[in-house]
Amino acid sequence: ELGTYDHYMQKEIFEQPDALANTLEMVGAAKSLQPGLFGADAEGLLKGVRQVLILACGTSWHAGLVARYWLEAIAGIPCAVEIASEYRYRESVPDPETLVVTISQSGETADTLAALQHAKALGMRRTLAVCNVPESSLVRETALRFITRAGPEIGVASTKAFTTQLAALYLLTLVMAKLRGRLDAAAEARELQALRHVPAAVQAVLALEPAIKTWAQLFGAKQHTLFLGRGRHYPIALEGALKLKEISYIHAEAYPAGELKHGPLALVDKEMPVIAVAPNDALLEKLKSNLQEVRARGGELFVFADADSEIADSEGVHVLRLPEHYGALSALLHVVPLQLLSYHVALVKGTDVDKPRNLAKSVTVE
Ligand code: F6R
Repeated sequence: ELGTYDHYMQKEIFEQPDALANTLEMVGAAKSLQPGLFGADAEGLLKGVRQVLILACGTSWHAGLVARYWLEAIAGIPCAVEIASEYRYRESVPDPETLVVTISQSGETADTLAALQHAKALGMRRTLAVCNVPESSLVRETALRFITRAGPEIGVASTKAFTTQLAALYLLTLVMAKLRGRLDAAAEARELQALRHVPAAVQAVLALEPAIKTWAQLFGAKQHTLFLGRGRHYPIALEGALKLKEISYIHAEAYPAGELKHGPLALVDKEMPVIAVAPNDALLEKLKSNLQEVRARGGELFVFADADSEIADSEGVHVLRLPEHYGALSALLHVVPLQLLSYHVALVKGTDVDKPRNLAKSVTVE
């Protein structure tokens, strides 16, 4: 089953172009996006939604955090994202016009299922699952669904499930934007074009593997790592840190780069490598000054930039460039090198990549 790959995680990272092409199959020939993508009753249930509440755990929660940036910026709809195990035990203020979106690879995560049941018990009936397993409990319990077509994910560390969840959540954003009159035909055609190109764009990012492998050598002896990102790339920094701690057991933390000066900068010295997710977007200039703060304390920087970013290699600053800048979808591309980095660091450390200690693939207990 592994074919030419050494581990499922590696295989699943490299399957992402296909997983995305399958998940986005319907945009291939489509001239427009229809709410029906999310189920037969979707138009009725999605219309009049006043806000979105996303509930999930772990990597799926990170996908939700990215989606919040999209839903608010593109669809203009307020969005909250909550860790399922927190939501289910919290006294919250329910609004029946909320769209409750649950995200889960397995569809069997106990906390996510319980959070959904809690939301339903509070009177919220507009429910949607983004899930990779069509016959799962989660899908049975929601009014609407989008099934990602990542195929079975065997490695404990989630990779292709995450990027296909992002694709699904971007489709949801576009459908919501359209229902709310915020996406005209020309913009819709441009978005569909960009989505069709996503599998090839991910393929091009995967070609960075040899350079990432070289970087990974430098992390084998490290105890701690800091990940930085801003805006919709902050959740990508969180995801990079989760992948690294999960499979290489290196302590990793992620911060929105603007928070550095409010505390974590105290940790930075030459023993603390700092990984920056630095796409060429409106926040790049701000991020660059955050990175100078790190350099000034002797921290070694590993920067994932875009082809046209004005960031150069220099003493203590290593820069890898993704082939192109991808606008709103760049979060989906920028997670891929972080997956590869954690994989190769784990190989350097000799850990059990596909079955990290203490973890289960599907967490069906509280
Ligand atoms: C991390 C990872 C976990 C899962 C989490 C939720 O690599 O795999 O954090 O994302 O346990 O699982 P699902 O998506 O199945 O609900």
